[in-house]
Amino acid sequence: MPALLDIQNIHKAFGGNVVLQGASLNVMPGEIVGLLGPNGSGKSTLLNVASGFTRADSGEVRFEGQDISRLPAHRIVHHGMARTFQLPSMPSKMSVLEVTLAADTRLHGVWSTLLKPSAVREAEAEALQQANQLLDSLLLTPVKQLAASAISGGQKKLLSIACALMARPKLLMLDEPTAGVHPNLRRDIVQTLQRLRAQGISQLIVEHDMHFVREVCTRCIVLDRGQIVADCKPEELSSHPQVIEAYLGRAAAQAAQMKAA
Ligand SMILES: Nc1ncnc2c1ncn2[C@@H]1O[C@H](COP(=O)(O)OP(=O)(O)OP(=O)(O)O)[C@@H](O)[C@H]1O
Ligand SMILES: [Mg+2]
Repeated sequence: MPALLDIQNIHKAFGGNVVLQGASLNVMPGEIVGLLGPNGSGKSTLLNVASGFTRADSGEVRFEGQDISRLPAHRIVHHGMARTFQLPSMPSKMSVLEVTLAADTRLHGVWSTLLKPSAVREAEAEALQQANQLLDSLLLTPVKQLAASAISGGQKKLLSIACALMARPKLLMLDEPTAGVHPNLRRDIVQTLQRLRAQGISQLIVEHDMHFVREVCTRCIVLDRGQIVADCKPEELSSHPQVIEAYLGRAAAQAAQMKAA
């Protein structure tokens, strides 16, 4: 089966700071892949490269077999890949509902100006229904008329997931979706992501919380200093020598190996 997302040999430096050093990973249809690694290891940069927000120095990104390495972010969304950001910022003059509606890619771009007024009205009505459903499923109905900038940090995370889903993606990429989110909300996010997977939406999720990763992810990839050091099942993470070394240092990895011997 061909990969949905195939990232090959990505190199990226910011000035003298080498951030990605030949990182490769793939996401197969139906998977929820967790992308883990210490702070500064390059996880968000890799998501930025995959989604067209940062241009790699070299390497290739393919989506459903098509080379998208040089496409801008808005074109990549049309291919079926949407993402959220680690620190979502929201416009102050738009309500939660308006921000969600604005994320509907069908109403953007040159082609939408070619639609008949009746088709535009139909698309707008569909978008409104979809936005209301998504806001409801992410528990944002009570705040949907508030300014998007005025809702809590956790609610902004949920809103950014709603916005990404408005694009009806085949692959959803989330950058730390549960960081700073209350445990009750976290449970709702976990259920939402599992429901989305059942609907056929594959996912690539940057996450530090091991509990979340074990519950949600079908496979894990660990990045350390810009290189992939592990590609394993979630339950193998805690005994994987390179993962222990990435998080706790070489001495801890050697101690764990000696203990296992
Ligand atoms: N636009 C940029 N300009 C300069 N340096 C950058 C830029 N984006 C990222 N970096 C650098 O790249 C390195 C990796 O950052 P990145 O945000 O990818 O890490 P991360 O793995 O997502 O970390 P965290 O877990 O803290 O979110 C850092 O040293 C960061 O300063
Ligand atoms: Mg990050």
